[in-house]
Amino acid sequence: MKVDGVPYRTIWRGKTSGRVQIIDQTKLPFEFVSCELRSVRDAAIAISSMQVRGAPLIGATAAYGMCLAMEENASDDKIDSAYTELLATRPTAINLRWALDEMRAELKPLSSTHRVDAAYEKAAAICDEDAENCRQIGLHGLEIFRDLANKKSGPLNILTHCNAGWLACVDWGTATSPMYHAFDAGIDIHVWVDETRPRNQGAALTAWELGKHGIPHTIIADNTGGHLMQNGMVDVCITGSDRVVANGDVCNKIGTYLKALAADDNNIPFYVAIPFSTIDWNLPRGVGKVPIEERDSKEVTHMTGLATNGNIDTFQITSPGSPAANFAFDVTPARLITGLITERGAVAANALLDLYPEQKQSA
Ligand code: MRU
Repeated sequence: MKVDGVPYRTIWRGKTSGRVQIIDQTKLPFEFVSCELRSVRDAAIAISSMQVRGAPLIGATAAYGMCLAMEENASDDKIDSAYTELLATRPTAINLRWALDEMRAELKPLSSTHRVDAAYEKAAAICDEDAENCRQIGLHGLEIFRDLANKKSGPLNILTHCNAGWLACVDWGTATSPMYHAFDAGIDIHVWVDETRPRNQGAALTAWELGKHGIPHTIIADNTGGHLMQNGMVDVCITGSDRVVANGDVCNKIGTYLKALAADDNNIPFYVAIPFSTIDWNLPRGVGKVPIEERDSKEVTHMTGLATNGNIDTFQITSPGSPAANFAFDVTPARLITGLITERGAVAANALLDLYPEQKQSA
């Protein structure tokens, strides 16, 4: 997607240096800066510190982390240790394990002299495939949005949670791709952007993305969605996911479940947009099964923002001494989801296997 007219992906290799570059998302929306990953350690830190985040981008960064590991030492032992180091960075998004499995399967059969080039080729292919899958998700979602928009007057009001945008992927985004396609097709849309405490991925990242593309949007406090839904101010909800399991249960950013409950109570369609790399066919159901990341409680007790003096600063916002808990994800049962939108089309959440018949043999 474009930033001030210049096309970007979230991870790329420098044209002349060949170095791996990322957008440092911890600086957004106030500063748009890229930085270089020079080692597998850098890649692991970028994922765990959330300089890069979002399920598909975590996977893509891990793929490039394996490239950097091969540059350090293209041995079998290094493949294994890099795999372990990168897999330990974040527990919930399944794209991380998927990308690492892809890289390991590509590299292990090769002799060490061929591993560096092969790793970069495979990482680039993973990125290109993710970008194309997200584009396809956008085209399928566009038709859903078009149908909904045709049934009403005025803008189609879309509610989204967290950032499932191009910043969370390689390009286009999952939940945002249908928005970009709909807007570019001339459909009148407006997006309610959940702030998404505690890290504010909605307020900081989704709002920034939509603003850069000129899409009308409004940031709301996380608790606002139910009220908007009761008052006819939301036509459709759409989110991404960090892991969809075989029965269609969706694990996504904490708070997604509450939005799905409110949507169900108000008969508002609730869609989840995912590439195939987000599906975990090995888990039969999600509630109580998907590992839920618990992050530093400081993300709850403190907030970072632009101070009135123009500096980016961090402030405590809670009663000193009170403990805080920081569960980063929750699971929305398939029964609350109207449809899953993948690169292959849209389907009822409990019929995901119909889109991937090749998984039926192994199921
Ligand atoms: O903790 P984050 O910012 O990595 O969480 C991201 C999300 O929950 C996204 O909604 C999800 O990864 C979908 S990304 C297309």
